Amino acid sequence: MPVPLPPALEPLLDLLRCPTCRARLHPADGALRCPAGHTFDIARRGYVGLLTGNRATSGDDAAMVRARDRFLSAGGYGPLLGAVARLAARTAPERAVVVDVGCGTGYYLAGVLDRLPDARGLGLDTSVRALRAAAGAHDRAAAAAWDVFRPFPLADGVADLVLDVFAPRNPAEFHRVLRPSGRLVVVRPTGRHLHELHGRVPSMVTVDPAKEQRLRRTLGPRFRAVATERIEYPMPLAGTEALDLMGMSPSARHVSRADLAESGPLADRVTVSVLATSYRPR
Ligand SMILES: C[S@@+](CC[C@H](N)C(=O)[O-])C[C@H]1O[C@@H](n2cnc3c(N)ncnc32)[C@H](O)[C@@H]1O
Ligand SMILES: [Zn+2]
Repeated sequence: MPVPLPPALEPLLDLLRCPTCRARLHPADGALRCPAGHTFDIARRGYVGLLTGNRATSGDDAAMVRARDRFLSAGGYGPLLGAVARLAARTAPERAVVVDVGCGTGYYLAGVLDRLPDARGLGLDTSVRALRAAAGAHDRAAAAAWDVFRPFPLADGVADLVLDVFAPRNPAEFHRVLRPSGRLVVVRPTGRHLHELHGRVPSMVTVDPAKEQRLRRTLGPRFRAVATERIEYPMPLAGTEALDLMGMSPSARHVSRADLAESGPLADRVTVSVLATSYRPR
């Protein structure tokens, strides 16, 4: 039995483009297909596999996605979601199209869609595990396997909002897919973010202070910042939340949960410190 077209994907079909030849895509027997015959399967779990060629290896693995899902579901980043949703809602039109790049489990995409009752969302990620979660994160959220560093499988100027929360960035493609009136919302950590856990896993070292400058340099030619919220608060950690926070960090991939648990006493409170900025395209 072919997998039916996920209802959240249907209203986005006009915006999607074949990653191979840029033609429009149409549903066909559990897949999306372009007139030239390029075919992309819809997974049973509801996301469409648009990535062709070599499989990207950069996405989160199953343990990382589980840790992220547990942690986010417990609400520790609720204030951060609030800021993203506020920035998103400032200018979004009623029937906004929201593209969440490196969407992970779809937590932020779902939160933004909750705030915008007529909006539709598309989450892009390389991680199959993340996409399974993202495809079920919200009635109006579709999900597709895609690598942020390749030209997006989307037509020009179709998105009202592009979200990039702790995820890799592709400024040229963000700019191309956004409408001129659209907004890009970028969330990134400051040097103080989770500093209590720094050094516990290899990647949790201090954020490079030049990072903000680099962000300005890479986004500056195409985007102008219009509003920034600094979100900073102490977050108590209950139960295994410290382990989950470390487990969802990129280099946790090579460290087992047992090793993390044995590596010393865990913090029972950490500092959340992030910047969320809304940009308009130049
Ligand atoms: C730190 S997580 C953030 C996830 C989500 N935005 C959140 O904050 O919960 C980074 C995400 O980017 C994804 N990712 C990594 N490299 C990617 C790439 N080249 N293209 C698309 N997604 C990528 C990972 O699979 C992961 O889901
Ligand atoms: Zn094609």
